[in-house]
Amino acid sequence: MPKHLVEPDTNAIPVQAVLPDGFADWLAVQDARTQAWVKSSGFTGEANQTLLLPGPKGDLDGVIYIRGDEPGPWAWVALFEGLPKTGVFNIISALDGVAANDAALGFVLASYRFDRYRSGGEDNQTGPLLVWPEGTNQAIVREAYGATKLVRDLVNTPASDLGPAQLAKAAQDLAEASGATYSAIVGVDLIREGFPAIYAVGRGAEDSRAPRLVDFSWGRSDAPKVTLVGKGVCFDTGGLDIKSTAGMKLMKKDMGGAAHVLALASMIMAHKLDVRLRVLIPAVENSVSNGAMRPLDVVATRQGLTVEIGNTDAEGRVILADALSLASEEKPDLILDFATLTGAARVALGTDLPALFCNDEDLAALILAAGLKTADPLWRLPLHKPYKNQTKGKVADLRNDSDSPFAGAIMAGLFLEAFVASGISWAHVDLMAWNTQTKPGRPEGGEALAIRALFEVLQNRYAH
Ligand code: BES
Ligand code: MN
Ligand code: ZN
Repeated sequence: MPKHLVEPDTNAIPVQAVLPDGFADWLAVQDARTQAWVKSSGFTGEANQTLLLPGPKGDLDGVIYIRGDEPGPWAWVALFEGLPKTGVFNIISALDGVAANDAALGFVLASYRFDRYRSGGEDNQTGPLLVWPEGTNQAIVREAYGATKLVRDLVNTPASDLGPAQLAKAAQDLAEASGATYSAIVGVDLIREGFPAIYAVGRGAEDSRAPRLVDFSWGRSDAPKVTLVGKGVCFDTGGLDIKSTAGMKLMKKDMGGAAHVLALASMIMAHKLDVRLRVLIPAVENSVSNGAMRPLDVVATRQGLTVEIGNTDAEGRVILADALSLASEEKPDLILDFATLTGAARVALGTDLPALFCNDEDLAALILAAGLKTADPLWRLPLHKPYKNQTKGKVADLRNDSDSPFAGAIMAGLFLEAFVASGISWAHVDLMAWNTQTKPGRPEGGEALAIRALFEVLQNRYAH
């Protein structure tokens, strides 16, 4: 699938990949002509730099790439931009298996373009091709790239083409391609089947964009149960507590949690981990309409707790509440949720670092370590019990906002925790799912975060 990675090609132009602190030694053993070219090009051998080497006839003879100093695939993303837009290239430097995978993955992450709406789709037709580096585990790279591409594509798709129905269809397509059992509860059926909170948030949207709960399961029924829950707000206007122009602009990405859950599920199923996987996606549009929920409405939940809507813009935790209750009912081994839940998590950690909340110390440690190992880091924030009283409602059991402007990400985490049955290991990832500016390998737009880290944890725990 990654079309910028190709099988060996005898005409491929060789690329020498040099570590930044190995540049001086590399240069010292080159012939006089190469040394002169390096010098006259002003090439200093800093990390992420590429230098094209001319042959005797002025053709391209080879390439030097100075590996980046960021870990994992990020050390390789600058190579894609540094190479000419056409041609086949081959890394000839010896790489161990990890570096080979990183090089291949970094190269294709950098090749990603969202070209669905460009006439001709020409953007993604161009760019250099790289021969699969020797020693690459192609399946791992393919699945990791495919998962990131799925997140980026779904998040980048505007809400006009990705409402709750289309998000559910994306889940159904993945489920059916993998032999999973898919079902969805749509519209007023949510009330009948006991998901009043999901219905309350989504009821303001037009009928063709009715709220729904997607539910699919995969794997042998007696394997350890792992349940993924993703926030699927296909557009978040804020509701009657409407967002500002700037605050609303990126809100097509508010189904980013759902996209992450589908991506992680795709990796779990492709690598056939020994789990009984369940994916739950409450998919809604938080819209402004005469039918929308109002400030200080009281919403019922599946679990029985009542929620006072202090702010219609704090909708994510309300829909996740019912999904987490359903997840808890079969007492799975593990519940993981992903959500673009709070601006406060971004104030704390910025756009690139997802916040991890976890009720299980051992699991939290494994996730943080896996984040470092896979160059896909998370940072833990506490489910600080003394703040719990701030999530109590004035007339209902809970409220979905708080009177204080502080610790908004923690408030949301504590709210969710009220719907996870005690004794179940649970991790909650509050993430941005979006690059606000283009950096090498990370184009502005939708972005996958923490899925390689979480897959690493699951693989270590549940591999056959
Ligand atoms: N989807 C937003 C959170 C968000 C905003 C994530 C920007 C990433 C970037 C969420 O539904 C929301 O609006 N949260 C409010 C909650 C508040 C009203 C209690 C927030 O964070 O401001
Ligand atoms: Mn909101
Ligand atoms: Zn939201």
